[in-house]
Amino acid sequence: MEFSQQFSTSPKSEADRAAILADPGFGDYFTDHTVVIDWTVDAAGEGGWHDARVEPYGPIMMDPAAAVLHYGQEIFEGLKAYRHADGSVWTFRAEANAARFNKSAVRLALPELPEEDFIESLRQIVAADRAWVPSEDGEALYLRPFMIATEAFLGVRPSREVSYRVIASPAGNYFGGELKPVSIWLSERYARAGHGGTGEAKCGGNYAASLAAQIEAEQHGCKQVLFLDPTNDYAVDELGGMNVFFVLTDGTLVTPELNGNILHGVTRSSVLQLAKDRGLAVEERKFTIAEWRERVADGTLAEVFACGTAAVITPIGELKTAQDTLATPTAEGEPVWKGIREQLLGIQTGTVEDTHGWLTRL
Ligand code: COI
Repeated sequence: MEFSQQFSTSPKSEADRAAILADPGFGDYFTDHTVVIDWTVDAAGEGGWHDARVEPYGPIMMDPAAAVLHYGQEIFEGLKAYRHADGSVWTFRAEANAARFNKSAVRLALPELPEEDFIESLRQIVAADRAWVPSEDGEALYLRPFMIATEAFLGVRPSREVSYRVIASPAGNYFGGELKPVSIWLSERYARAGHGGTGEAKCGGNYAASLAAQIEAEQHGCKQVLFLDPTNDYAVDELGGMNVFFVLTDGTLVTPELNGNILHGVTRSSVLQLAKDRGLAVEERKFTIAEWRERVADGTLAEVFACGTAAVITPIGELKTAQDTLATPTAEGEPVWKGIREQLLGIQTGTVEDTHGWLTRL
């Protein structure tokens, strides 16, 4: 697909950009450009992608009746662009994000976008906003592709007009400041997903549904909320915006299996692969809150961590519940999460060999 380019006539000044890149936080600042591709259904009922373009970043003009504003027909992705020491810019497992995006599209009755167009859209935004890719340790340019239903109508049916877009945001630690163990809150009042629902799709509705529980978490001094599956023995599902892993004292890594409710995290799958490469036993299986309590009580739980593109790998220091607090013990020696995090970031930033062919040059 050919992209036309209309570059911003008022990009941020070099000084403003440098000030932002000195402390980007997460999700607060956006680059100078956006990528757009439109999709419409023609008179013969055939849908097609057209008008791929790079535009200056700015507000979206949309009809107030646009379907996304009423029924939430929307999906998104999150991936990062990393600057290597020689100045080149790379992204990580973009084809996995492209595949997941299309899986989400099917679930939300949105059109699929060919993988090569998804990857080219990332190249286009990075080409326009290359100066925004941070070079500091632990920072990257977060890329947010998304797709919204833009047709103006109030009937409940799939939209015949759709807009695919990519925005980019320089990013540091998702939780702000230095990396340190976070406290998480167990939601007993709300569930995130149910069987046959949209749990494994990356759609805005899942995240909107997590917010009431996130408020509860924050009221209890926690950074994230943990959801259980009440229809499956109160098995651990995932956090509000990331997958969760457990390390047992015998070295086994356990993470909830992909049962239709859980997001197919690209970081999740990379952690599993890197753990196998290290010779660790990995188990994708049901992990109930009862097992969590038992393992804290009998001392067989060594580590708990969250992972995701935004969170990378973040240790979880404790789970607070309405009844108790399950503290993760302080690791003796180097924790497993730390070694895997360093290896993962090393691959992404070009200081560790990419033996799995996970990087794509942008
Ligand atoms: C990501 O990790 O990329 C996500 O989409 C999660 C969101 C909480 C930022």
